[in-house]
Amino acid sequence: MDSSSFSSSLFACFVVLLVFPPRSVCVDLSYNVPEETKRQFVIGNIAKDLGMDVKQLSARKARIETEDSGKRYCEIKLSSGDLTVAETIDREELCGTRISCDLSYELVMENPLEVHRIIIHIQDINDNAPRFPKDKIHFEITESADKGQRFRLDEARDSDVGRNAVTGYSLEKNKHFILNVHDAPHGGKYAELVLEKELDREEQKEMEMILTASDGGSPQRSGTAVIHITVLDANDNVPVFTQTVYKVTLAENTPPGTEIIRVSATDADEGPNGEVTYDFSRISDKAAKLFSIDEKNGKITVTGEIDFETENRYELGIQAKDASGLASTSTVIIDVTDVNDNPPRIILKSINNPIPENSDPGTEVGIINVQDKDSGENRQIRCSVQQNVPFKLNPSVKNYFSLVTTKALDREQEPDFNITITATDGGSPPLSSSMTIHLLVSDVNDNPPVFEQQSYSAYIRENNKADTSVCSVRATDPDWRQNGTVLYSLVPSDVNGAPVSSFLSINGDTGEIHAVRSFDYEQFRNFSVRVVARDNGSPPLSSNVTVKVFITDENDNSPQILYPAPDGKSLMTEMVPKATLAGSLVSKVISVDADSGQNAWLSYQILKSTDPGLFTIGLHSGEIKTQRDISESDNMKQNLVISVKDNGQPSLSSTCVVHLLISDNLSEVPELKDITYEDSNSQLTSYLIIALVSVSTFFLTFIILMLAVKFCHRRKPRLLFDRAVAVPSAYLPPNYADVDGAATLRSSYNYDAYLTTGSRTSDFKFVRSYNDSTLPAEGTLRKEHNLQFGSSMIMLDVTGNDDEVGVA
Ligand SMILES: *[C@@H]1O[C@H](CO)[C@@H](O)[C@H](O)[C@H]1NC(C)=O
Ligand SMILES: *[C@@H]1O[C@H](CO)[C@@H](O)[C@H](O)[C@H]1NC(C)=O
Ligand SMILES: *[C@@H]1O[C@H](CO)[C@@H](O)[C@H](O)[C@H]1NC(C)=O
Ligand SMILES: *[C@@H]1O[C@H](CO)[C@@H](O)[C@H](O)[C@H]1NC(C)=O
Ligand SMILES: *[C@@H]1O[C@H](CO)[C@@H](O)[C@H](O)[C@H]1NC(C)=O
Repeated sequence: MDSSSFSSSLFACFVVLLVFPPRSVCVDLSYNVPEETKRQFVIGNIAKDLGMDVKQLSARKARIETEDSGKRYCEIKLSSGDLTVAETIDREELCGTRISCDLSYELVMENPLEVHRIIIHIQDINDNAPRFPKDKIHFEITESADKGQRFRLDEARDSDVGRNAVTGYSLEKNKHFILNVHDAPHGGKYAELVLEKELDREEQKEMEMILTASDGGSPQRSGTAVIHITVLDANDNVPVFTQTVYKVTLAENTPPGTEIIRVSATDADEGPNGEVTYDFSRISDKAAKLFSIDEKNGKITVTGEIDFETENRYELGIQAKDASGLASTSTVIIDVTDVNDNPPRIILKSINNPIPENSDPGTEVGIINVQDKDSGENRQIRCSVQQNVPFKLNPSVKNYFSLVTTKALDREQEPDFNITITATDGGSPPLSSSMTIHLLVSDVNDNPPVFEQQSYSAYIRENNKADTSVCSVRATDPDWRQNGTVLYSLVPSDVNGAPVSSFLSINGDTGEIHAVRSFDYEQFRNFSVRVVARDNGSPPLSSNVTVKVFITDENDNSPQILYPAPDGKSLMTEMVPKATLAGSLVSKVISVDADSGQNAWLSYQILKSTDPGLFTIGLHSGEIKTQRDISESDNMKQNLVISVKDNGQPSLSSTCVVHLLISDNLSEVPELKDITYEDSNSQLTSYLIIALVSVSTFFLTFIILMLAVKFCHRRKPRLLFDRAVAVPSAYLPPNYADVDGAATLRSSYNYDAYLTTGSRTSDFKFVRSYNDSTLPAEGTLRKEHNLQFGSSMIMLDVTGNDDEVGVA
């Protein structure tokens, strides 16, 4: 610029000088000088430029005049004619933003006055860097700002002008913004931030970038400012759950109040936009009663009874919502796990109750079903019955068991069973339950009555009354009711040829055996009968036992003296030789007693004797012996009254008289014999007469009676004939024994026969009594030797005076 601008201005001056006379002021000199030069910097040489001699300058008092009283930045060196910088020039101070900055001075010379205009063009140098008004530029941009949105940036200032002023901007590289640079209408340039990529507060809340403004000088200068961007929140985020599906396993029976899970959703927004509340978005009515969610913290808790058996899986829709209603959902899947909380259940499907005792082992008694609501191991059921009963469970199809017997039952041993069935599941701890079946065993008639004894022995005293209790048998039958009801009866049999029923009777219910008649020990001593006990079952069972009846003796027979003939009838006289010495056996009293034992144990005693002291009698032997030698002075006739006594209680006795003749001559005896014979004969005759009279009277009465009956009942001849047959053989009513059963056995007396010389009166044989015929030929009782006294006894029996018989 220097030379060309200088020459052009010089040319212009030249033209001016040609047109106008050089008298007036003209623009003569112009110089370019860069700003900020130092003092004494030579701007130009005026002398030379004016074509004047240097000396003239000082001579003409050349000087620089300002048009106004401004600062003078230059001066003339008169010695050299140089125009120099008097003060450092700052163009920016001087001219500000004006593009051209000229200083205008006048060069005044005197003599002649000459004024030259000196214009100094101050040239800009790049001495100022661009500068932003503020170091930090703040922006608040919402994150929802659209792409392409512009934000005007402060213009940077550069005091320099022209090329040295701001020529461009640049922005630190970043993700979101670019820079648009524009020419300002007043010159200069400004920049805009353009949003190139949307902001996300949640990603980056604040950002800073450096904006640089640079000028076009050389060297280039630049200035920076920091753009600070705060991203403002927009509710652009929905809450987001941490998981799309929450899976929880929950044991059933978890107590209410237990926290299951805490769901959480985060909302990237801020403030109310980021405040999340939780709720169920989708829940079944059932689940609604069981679960609740805390709307603040997302805690899901149990509020009801969780039961695996009703529902084992719940699916809850949950949602998280922020303040302005943006929401998202998730799912909570709750798997309920089984807890062994249900004991097994035992159901009795059928039962045969009662069960007959004769059921075979293995008989099915009942059917049992077991159930458990739990699942898996918890519903594996083991089933058992207690040890001590004869039953077991047989597994059948699917949880069914049949209860069967394991051995034969016996109602009599165990009439009922309490069968306890226990079912235990496989849980841990296992649960169990039990059921007791009270099973009855019904009766079957399988037990015969059993007698308490193997055999019975009964003792009954003779001369008993009819209907006397003999003994009592008892049989027990453990069966039930009629199967165990025992009935007794006698087994029909014969005892001594007569049916047993004529001896004994038995009470069918009590087993008490009674005598039907009076027994006579002397007739028979024992007999046995069989008693059968029968139960009432169908068919009945029975058993029998032998009852041996022993008739015990009673002292009902007085001793019977066989020799000598009893008192008053003796025709015998014993001869005792005179020379008999002391201790000699003289005679012997022989007697018998039909009784036995003590009752037949006889003792002899001399009651009266002609000469006491001469004879003694053996207490038991009945032997009469001399006590001393017989002397001449002894009475020839000696009579001894001897009593024979048995040992019964009370004892019975008989007496007899023994006639002894102390003589050696037999011929002395007969006179005594005749006397006695007559006596006894007359007595016997009287008895005979009485007997004959009574028999004939009876017979006659009978004949009359028979005729009368025959006359009245001609239509029943057979019956009468039957009766008639019996009469002649017995001369007694055929049913005599029945008339007075108690007396019949006593009606005949039998004696062991010891025939002596004194028995010669036994001319009469009495007709056998009814009982005689029933007796077996045992030998002990001899019927053919019934003595004739029998008839009188019978007579007395009829009149009932039987007590007198023995001593008659
Ligand atoms: C069974 O139980 C019942 C009632 O509890 C009781 O009366 C009976 O005696 C019991 N039977 C057995 C054999 O235990
Ligand atoms: C007696 O036993 C029979 C079978 O022998 C039986 O049928 C009946 O029911 C039983 N009676 C009672 C009362 O138990
Ligand atoms: C039964 O009586 C007879 C005589 O009648 C006798 O021989 C027998 O010994 C007696 N039996 C018993 C066991 O007493
Ligand atoms: C008595 O019992 C025996 C076996 O104990 C039996 O053989 C007999 O037939 C029974 N008699 C009667 C009459 O029942
Ligand atoms: C016996 O007695 C009779 C007459 O009493 C007499 O005749 C007889 O001689 C006597 N005999 C003797 C042996 O004594």
